[in-house]
Amino acid sequence: MLPFSQAAENNKGPILEVLREYLTAPGTLLEIGAGTGQHAVWLAPRFPDIGWTPSEQPEHLHDLNRRLGAEPAANLRPAIPLRVQEAWPLGPFEYIFSANTFHIMSADQVTLCIEQACRRLSAQGRFCVYGPFHYDGQPTSDSNRRFDQSLQARDPAMGIRDQEWVVARFADQGRALLGDHAMPANNRVLVFG
Ligand SMILES: C[S@@+](CC[C@H](N)C(=O)[O-])C[C@H]1O[C@@H](n2cnc3c(N)ncnc32)[C@H](O)[C@@H]1O
Repeated sequence: MLPFSQAAENNKGPILEVLREYLTAPGTLLEIGAGTGQHAVWLAPRFPDIGWTPSEQPEHLHDLNRRLGAEPAANLRPAIPLRVQEAWPLGPFEYIFSANTFHIMSADQVTLCIEQACRRLSAQGRFCVYGPFHYDGQPTSDSNRRFDQSLQARDPAMGIRDQEWVVARFADQGRALLGDHAMPANNRVLVFG
C-alpha cells in the first residue's frame, strides 16, 4: 500500500486552478516536501511543458518514488533527496512549488528554504506555496487555531507562519508577493516572483 493523504486528494483540484494562472511558460519545476506524491502525479501531466522534479527528505524518498513509478508521466522526473537545511540541487528552476511544509519546518528552516530556493529560481521564476497562514498574528479560523496548537504540542518548532513574516522573508531575497489566494479549508496559496 502506498501512503495516502485524503487532504492532498481534496486540495489538488483547487491548487491546480491557481497554478494554471502562474505556470504559464515551459520550464522546470522543483517540488519541495512532495510527501505521498499525490500532487506530483496529478499536477505534472496537467503541465506537460514543465519538467516536474519532486523532492523529499531522504527517509521518505523510497515511498515517493514508488508512487511516481506507479503513475508515471512523460514530464515527471524521479524524486530527488532534499532536506532544506542540507545540500540543494543546482537549478535553476522556473518554478518551485511546496504544499503544507512551512508549518512543519521550523521557522529557521523556512527562512533557509526561502533563501536557498530564491537563489535557484530564475529571474522571472515563481515560488508557489500552499498551506495555512496566520494574518496579523491571528488564525483565520478556529480550526487553524486548534491545528496550530496541536502542531506546537507535537513540536514547539512547528507552527503556522504569519503571512507577513513569509512575505518579509521573500522580500529579503528580492522577491515580491504576486498573489494571495483563498483556498478551501482555510488554506491559502501565496505566489512570489
Ligand atoms: C504535511 S507533509 C506535506 C506533504 C505534501 N506536500 C502534501 O501536501 O500532502 C510535510 C512534508 O514536509 C517535509 N519536510 C519537513 N521538514 C522538511 C525539511 N526540513 N526539508 C524538506 N522537507 C521537509 C516532510 O518530509 C513532509 O513530507
